[in-house]
Amino acid sequence: IKKITTETLRKMKFDKEKITMLTAYDFTTAKMVDAGGVDSILIGDSAANVMAGHETTLPITLDQMIYHTQCVVRGVERALVVADLPFGTYQSNPEKALESAVRMMKEGGAHAIKIEGGKEIEESIRKIVNAGIPVCGHLGLTPQSIYQFGTYKVRAKEDAEAEKLIADCKLLEELGCFAVVLEKIPAALAKKASESISIPTIGIGAGPDCDGQVLVYHDMVGMNQGFSPKFLRRYLDLYSEITGAVSQYVKDVKSSDFPNDKESY
Ligand code: KIV
Ligand code: NA
Repeated sequence: IKKITTETLRKMKFDKEKITMLTAYDFTTAKMVDAGGVDSILIGDSAANVMAGHETTLPITLDQMIYHTQCVVRGVERALVVADLPFGTYQSNPEKALESAVRMMKEGGAHAIKIEGGKEIEESIRKIVNAGIPVCGHLGLTPQSIYQFGTYKVRAKEDAEAEKLIADCKLLEELGCFAVVLEKIPAALAKKASESISIPTIGIGAGPDCDGQVLVYHDMVGMNQGFSPKFLRRYLDLYSEITGAVSQYVKDVKSSDFPNDKESY
């Protein structure tokens, strides 16, 4: 199996081949997602929501993200494994940011890290890239800043924010990032951003003209019944499948149908 690298992704943009990314947080899921042929697997800090049940991504710790990353890495043969650095582990100072990134690479076994923001975290990105660690940017709706935004609505609809987003894209490219995630921004702006830089853009709720797409695994397989933003396409209804299977199991045990003779020693 030929492993996907950051260089592969760069070449895919050049060749106009779309890049696919999904999240995973555990070994078994990562194995299935990798076998399905996705180019990159993201250990998103959305683990705080879908794994731990938190309201926002803020509470998850670097140790917890490292644990999820270790589990995912063991299940992956082909995809590029990118891990989020969680809130508070890179924003404040570049030395701390590098330390966090190094831990994620060494202990977690990630192939690359992702951090949210542009100009504000320029020095942190520079420091991490200079250490030889591939960095993926993340602009637009950056959930770690949710208390500053106040809502999870579409970002950069106004000119000033749109201009800053394009400038940040160019800055991330200049700093040596290998890709940038664009979350929940107008499709036209994402198109313009994708055309302004030579590194790939990976969109979520950012329209069809990004160089790639990313979704949260639990959302795309329909495990998250309560979450249905417009940008989400559900490929399965696993919530119903799984609750159905569980209730059938309950019935079968209660009625002494399970286990039967063939299922007994
Ligand atoms: O944490 C996450 O899952 C993400 C993706 C939505 C891009 O950052
Ligand atoms: Na994230």
